[in-house]
Amino acid sequence: MFTAYVITISDKGSVGERVDTSGEVIVDILKENNYEVLDKIIIPDDQATIEEKLKYASDVLTTGGTGFSKRDVTPEATLNVATKNAFGICDSIRQYSLTITKRAMLSRAVSVIRNDSLIINLPGSPKAVRESLEYIIDSVEHGLQILLGTASECARK
Ligand code: MTE
Repeated sequence: MFTAYVITISDKGSVGERVDTSGEVIVDILKENNYEVLDKIIIPDDQATIEEKLKYASDVLTTGGTGFSKRDVTPEATLNVATKNAFGICDSIRQYSLTITKRAMLSRAVSVIRNDSLIINLPGSPKAVRESLEYIIDSVEHGLQILLGTASECARK
């Protein structure tokens, strides 16, 4: 069983002005896929705060802050704590999401490795979160197994 942290990045959510539906969607999908969710937190769109939280968590899924608004800095914070890129995941989310909405091109989300952990940015809306996470989750599990050295065989999928 893998463990994961869920971080919602939202100025409004962090002060209780918006209900965090997207974070809940991530938690539900992770649990349905046998992940243990260690914590779910809501933090503002502040780059230093995002980096600090990403550094102390292990495998992380973020939601929010990946768009074009001035306060959106989630990808920048994620890149700053990365030790390797793993852009195939965010690229595949965008590619799949483009079949649903052309606006998927506006997601600046990234996915990276930080030491033994994987960090994946998901978009902000619950709909987009579900579409994105359900598309990648089985392949992500295989990636985590390779990252941790519990699988080396890619032939199956
Ligand atoms: N991806 C999927 N699968 N479904 C969506 O509805 N919305 C897009 C995009 N990705 C969307 C999606 C929109 S409208 C934006 S602006 C970007 O994600 C960035 O989202 P964020 O600013 O909420 O993080």
